[in-house]
Parts: sequence; C-alpha cells; structure tokens
Amino acid sequence: VSEVSLVLLGFGNVGQRLTQLIHDHDGYSAEGTRIVVRAVFDRGGGVAVENREVSDLLETKRRHGSVTALAGAPELDWSEVFDVSERCVLVDTSITDANTGEPGFGPAIQALKNGVPVVFASKGPLVAHYSELVELGKQHGARIGASAAVGIPLPSIEVGVLGVRGAGLKRFRGVFSETANQILRELESGIDLDSAVERARIEGTIEEDPRLDLDGWDAAYKLLILARAIWNPLLSLESVSRRGVSTIGKRELDEARYQRNKIRLVATASRQPSGETQLKVEPEALSSEDPLYPLGPGEKGVVFETETMGTITLRSSKGGPLATAASVIKDVLNVAAPKGSFY
Ligand SMILES: NC(=O)c1ccc[n+]([C@@H]2O[C@H](COP(=O)([O-])OP(=O)(O)OC[C@H]3O[C@@H](n4cnc5c(N)ncnc54)[C@H](OP(=O)(O)O)[C@@H]3O)[C@@H](O)[C@H]2O)c1
Repeated sequence: VSEVSLVLLGFGNVGQRLTQLIHDHDGYSAEGTRIVVRAVFDRGGGVAVENREVSDLLETKRRHGSVTALAGAPELDWSEVFDVSERCVLVDTSITDANTGEPGFGPAIQALKNGVPVVFASKGPLVAHYSELVELGKQHGARIGASAAVGIPLPSIEVGVLGVRGAGLKRFRGVFSETANQILRELESGIDLDSAVERARIEGTIEEDPRLDLDGWDAAYKLLILARAIWNPLLSLESVSRRGVSTIGKRELDEARYQRNKIRLVATASRQPSGETQLKVEPEALSSEDPLYPLGPGEKGVVFETETMGTITLRSSKGGPLATAASVIKDVLNVAAPKGSFY
C-alpha cells in the first residue's frame, strides 16, 4: 500500500469531517493508498499533525479556535510544506472568494509548481484563476481535482469530460445549489422570502453572504467551472447570464402551480456547432416530463444531452459536509493514484 500525505488548507465543517473520515477508514488503505493528514492550516496558521490523535486536533480546534494551539505541534510555513514529502496532495477546504481566489490560490500555485496535485472543495481559485492553475498543473505533471467544487456528490466532471467524449455534447443542465432550491420549495409552500432565508440561516445552510445563494452566484460558479473543464478554459464569469431566486414573485409561483410545474434554479450550458457557448442560471418552471422535475429535498441532478448517446442523467440523494468530504477523498485517491487500466 503506497502512502499519500495531505496538506489541508481550512479546518471548518468539511476539513474536520474529512480528517475524521480518513481516521475512521484507516486512511483508506483498502483502496490501495494510505492517506495520512500531515499538515493543517487555518486562519491562525499551520501545524504538522502527522502521528497526532485526530481527537486531539478536533478538541484543540473546538476549544482554542485554531489548530496552531495543538500542544507540541511544530508550526509550519507554506514555503516548507511541499518539500518534505514527494507524494503529497494539497486539499483546499477553505472559504470561497471568487474575486481573488484566496486563500487557496497562493498555496495551490506553490503546490502545482512543486508537482503536487491539488484537490479543491473551494470554488474561488477555479473561478478566479482557472487557466493559470490548469496550465501550471500540466507543466509540472500535477493533476487537479474539483468534484467538491461543482455540486457534490454528482460525478459531473467525470461524465462531462470522460463519459460523453466524442458523443457531441450539445447541452448540459443541472440543479447544483441545494440552498436556492430549498428556498424555492418554501416559496411554493406559501412561506415568504424573508422567512425562508431566516430559516436557512438558522439551519446554517445559507452562505454567510446570502446573495451567493439568492442571486444564483453559487450555481454560476459551479456551472462555469464545469463548462471550462468540459469545453473551454477561457469562458468568463461575465458570460454567465444570471437570475436568482430572490426575483421570483407571487404571479410566477401561482402560474407554475396552476400548470402543475415546479420552479427550480437550473444552470444550463449549451454549445452551438460553431463552438459558441452560452451559460445561464435562472429559475425555470419544470414540467413533469423534465428529468430534473423529480428531484426532492437535498437532491441534485445534471442532464447531459448528446448527439449520439442520447440523454444521460445523474441524480444524487445526499449533500452536506460528509458527502463533500467523501467527494474530496475520491479526488485525492484519483489524483494521487498511478494511472490504472481504465483511463
Ligand atoms: N459545507 C459544504 O457542504 C460544502 C459543499 C461543497 C463545497 N464546499 C466548499 O468547501 C469549502 C469549505 O466549506 P466549509 O463548510 O468547511 O466552510 P467553513 O466551515 O467556513 O471552513 C472554512 C475554513 O477556511 C479557513 N480559512 C478561512 N480563511 C483562511 C485563511 N486566510 N487561511 C487559512 N484558512 C482560512 C477557516 O479558518 P478558521 O477555522 O480559522 O476560521 C475555516 O477553517 C468552502 O469553500 C465551501 O464553499 C462546502
């Protein structure tokens, strides 16, 4: 069993679940690769944590607010972390800032320059600096994982990039944003927007900046990263036409109810034979024939429409930090593994 050591940027919901999952699964040795968490960084700085008890790390974070308070753990600096081990993966579970791509962008650049693969749960670096990251990865032979950044746990990148290759993908449409669609469900049941947002805030499901969910930004980021990975790395955020769920009025809701439709926030990418690509995020009234119509609370879906393979639909039943952490594990195992017989 070979070993992969993780450098973890961010130790919030996802980072902590990830660390616990790795511990509970004996480092995923059964997959042929043993994953070891070697270093953890949060807002307070970074520490070496190899051979430390996960429970101590979690307890330190809970009590003191930062992993740097872990007794006896050597403090680390970004300039030193990627030299220590050859088989290393950087995992970015820090906050998403789509304007600067930080705090993940700087460490990702350093990792890729050292030939270290990077797995992103954060969308920021891939929205702000996609081409630069992908080019660096190619130059230095380091792979990139982004499953957790594009609507977990759907394997959208795998299907979009590998699964429909050569099949003439014309369009893909997805329900990627749990929070926006939960708010739409509540509006449909007669609750007003402010109360629906308040409920999401209490449940902790809405982003700190609610506009990310309400104005469709979260879905737009995911759509953009997917379309860049599948079609064109140069597509820009400005090219995504966007209308969020906060614009839905009573008339639209009544009309949908009358027609027995459901309104959902749908992200769509379509490509003309000329190569011209259109990206949009908007609430759509879905009829019962639409493959996205049956999605229930917490479910996500994506539909790939091709010329020669027909329509391929992915539907997932589970979201949240555990499924996010599991998607990160999948990416770590895939980017760190030697190429197998299949792909
Ligand atoms: N939660 C989900 O289900 C989910 C699903 C898919 C994708 N994601 C993405 O995954 C990422 C993590 O989500 P989360 O729910 O775990 O968020 P979170 O609980 O807010 O954790 C974010 C972490 O980032 C750290 N951080 C912030 N600024 C930093 C800096 N300058 N340097 C180092 N660390 C910094 C925070 O440090 P402190 O702890 O010191 O504040 C915190 O540990 C986000 O980008 C999110 O969009 C989340």
